[in-house]
Amino acid sequence: MPLQIIRNDITKVACDAIVNAANATLLGGGGVDGAIHKAAGKGLLLECMKLGGCKTGQAKITGGHKLPCKYVIHTVGPKWKGGQNGERELLISCYRESLRLALSHDCRSVAFPLISSGVYGYPKDQALKVAVDCITEFLIEHDMLVYLVVFDKSSFQISEKLFTDIAAFIDDKYVDMHFIFRPTQRDAWGDSTFLGTTEILPPNETDQARLSPDVFQEGATTASKKVSLPTQTPTISLEDALKREDESFSQALLRKIDEKGMTDSACYKKANVDRKLFSKIRGDVHYHPSKPTAIAFAIALELNLDETKDLLQRAGFALSHSSKFDIIIEYFITHGNYNVFEINEALFAFDQTLLGA
Ligand code: APR
Repeated sequence: MPLQIIRNDITKVACDAIVNAANATLLGGGGVDGAIHKAAGKGLLLECMKLGGCKTGQAKITGGHKLPCKYVIHTVGPKWKGGQNGERELLISCYRESLRLALSHDCRSVAFPLISSGVYGYPKDQALKVAVDCITEFLIEHDMLVYLVVFDKSSFQISEKLFTDIAAFIDDKYVDMHFIFRPTQRDAWGDSTFLGTTEILPPNETDQARLSPDVFQEGATTASKKVSLPTQTPTISLEDALKREDESFSQALLRKIDEKGMTDSACYKKANVDRKLFSKIRGDVHYHPSKPTAIAFAIALELNLDETKDLLQRAGFALSHSSKFDIIIEYFITHGNYNVFEINEALFAFDQTLLGA
């Protein structure tokens, strides 16, 4: 997964380089700067003293000293003064300059804190957006593993509107009870919403009161009628349609990449999947992806909900309203937002697994 958002103390992240949100003196301070200097030991300060400081938006590199990393890249973020003083451009420059230094020092992995989002007061949701936009722009051209390290949940904020919209969507759809399932013939249902080998018994009266009408209605509807598989566009022959029925996940994925006119690399980068894993999938017709990986490709291909369920089903998965993760995915697909990195910000905010691999 080329861009990972993780909860951790950056001084504990073992990678080639960690980035320090420093001040212009480079002589240490509080926050992540203080934590890095404390963990690295005096040797880091002695090396920094020879650097002659650093301008806002610029970056300089030192050794990792006692830290579990080879390098520390020190960058100075902008202080927030209301947003009309070039703060965004300076913050973008911090990420770009730090990534340029990591690249020139052959780093294969780098960890960033959310620069300027602490003492320097940059609004946390905007600081996150700048970080993700800069890192993902870099990853289109370069192969590197980038960690965005979140120290405490309060320092990680997606936009308030997006958060409340998703929370409302979850409330509306989430089924926090379990339907009674018993095995039945798959073709009695032909339904791709559930795993297809189950029969649903509608909940009893009390549960009906708890379920939001559409969820119950969906459950009842599903229980009472065959739900057909996603309709294929009429432009394909019966023979092709039958061939597609038996396609494996990777066969369907590769076909859809061609149909969408995408290159392999454009697809796996948009899916936040690394090149090595993609070549495994391409090379193995029976490859079995994880659910987050399968969904990441559905997002990269910008599939609608039915097409997503069809692709997932080929990997043995289904979307369900008893999973917040699935509902958040459904939110983004039904709202036409196929930015896997924005989806990951939301998944992280709701303590869910991230998309990609
Ligand atoms: N690991 C990861 N992230 C951390 C850690 C840590 N150990 N400690 C703090 N953070 C997070 C904060 O929660 C915040 O999200 O780093 C982000 C940046 O916060 P600051 O460290 O306050 O940095 P910044 O806002 O850029 O202000 C820089 O603060 O520490 C001084 O010397 C530094 O003057 C400079 C100013």
